[in-house]
Amino acid sequence: MKQTLCTVASNLELMPGVYLMWIEAPDIAVTAQPGQFITVRCGDFTLRRPFSVHQISSQELALLFKVAGKGTLWLSQQKKGDRIDILGPLGKGFTIEPKARNLLLVAGGIGIAPLVFLMQHASSQHQITLIHGASAAAQLYPFSSTSRKPSKLPPLPNGVQYIPITEDGSMGQKGKVTDILPDFLNWADQIYACGPVDMYKAMALSLNPSPLKGEEKTIVGEGLVPSHNLKLKKCQVSLEVRMGCGFGACYSCTIKTRKGLKRVCRDGPVFELDDIIWQEVKI
Ligand SMILES: Cc1cc2nc3c(=O)[nH]c(=O)nc-3n(C[C@H](O)[C@H](O)[C@H](O)COP(=O)(O)OP(=O)(O)OC[C@H]3O[C@@H](n4cnc5c(N)ncnc54)[C@H](O)[C@@H]3O)c2cc1C
Ligand code: FES
Repeated sequence: MKQTLCTVASNLELMPGVYLMWIEAPDIAVTAQPGQFITVRCGDFTLRRPFSVHQISSQELALLFKVAGKGTLWLSQQKKGDRIDILGPLGKGFTIEPKARNLLLVAGGIGIAPLVFLMQHASSQHQITLIHGASAAAQLYPFSSTSRKPSKLPPLPNGVQYIPITEDGSMGQKGKVTDILPDFLNWADQIYACGPVDMYKAMALSLNPSPLKGEEKTIVGEGLVPSHNLKLKKCQVSLEVRMGCGFGACYSCTIKTRKGLKRVCRDGPVFELDDIIWQEVKI
């Protein structure tokens, strides 16, 4: 973990209200792993804002962020040559089991941010299917092969199967990522997801096969889960709860899991989907 004052290399509005910012930060770029995050001091705000590492190059790292409030508005206004204070890399990222070959990546909206880094990291050794859901085509990530915008947009690595899905049907199938998730469950060895909590809750239902006839449900923690839960497909999700310090000191990001209390910034932000007690997660 390193705190540095870095130079903004570029900042481009990629989609309405969504920015791709490249930052000159070689020390952090060289150690960052997919699923980890950095925090940024946004103007005069005391609390630093957390963002997933979206891409890296040898000298730079990229953030993909949506303007959600005053901090991200400030960040969107930074230009090439401006200096920003960043801290990272932070947290524990995604893990790939040695035997896994087929990876299913599921992105909801801006949740594509950490999954692009994971895809770039894993695509030479693994078969990847990326399902990306958004409200409309304009909110889908414009990979370089599908975009007219210049800049450092990543191409879709060779062999990656890309499946866009939009709620209004303006690109790909009409619907939500969870509508087509069941089609890929037999194929996938591991699943990785990033998106809103409602998407995770729907995924948890999709991934839990219906209880066998006559099988009792059991209370685990405060969640109701089928008692054959152990057979479920492993799925890692990145949680975006509100954070204070971002490095484990303030406990403001603590959540209840089936393995006890966890700090999202230090024990996560990546967790196993079925370890989370969703009723307890407040975002
Ligand atoms: C580990 C982690 C990784 C993240 N990665 C990204 C990313 O790659 N790209 C991206 O656009 N955003 C990401 N976020 C969310 C991002 O940190 C928030 O959108 C940002 O902090 C909002 O700051 P603000 O000052 O603009 O908004 P505020 O004025 O603080 O809040 C505006 C609105 O955003 C909501 N909000 C604030 N913080 C969060 C949060 N942590 N998660 C969800 N909603 C929040 C508030 O409830 C409020 O409705 C990540 C969050 C975490 C915890
Ligand atoms: S944000 Fe301070 S402990 Fe997690």
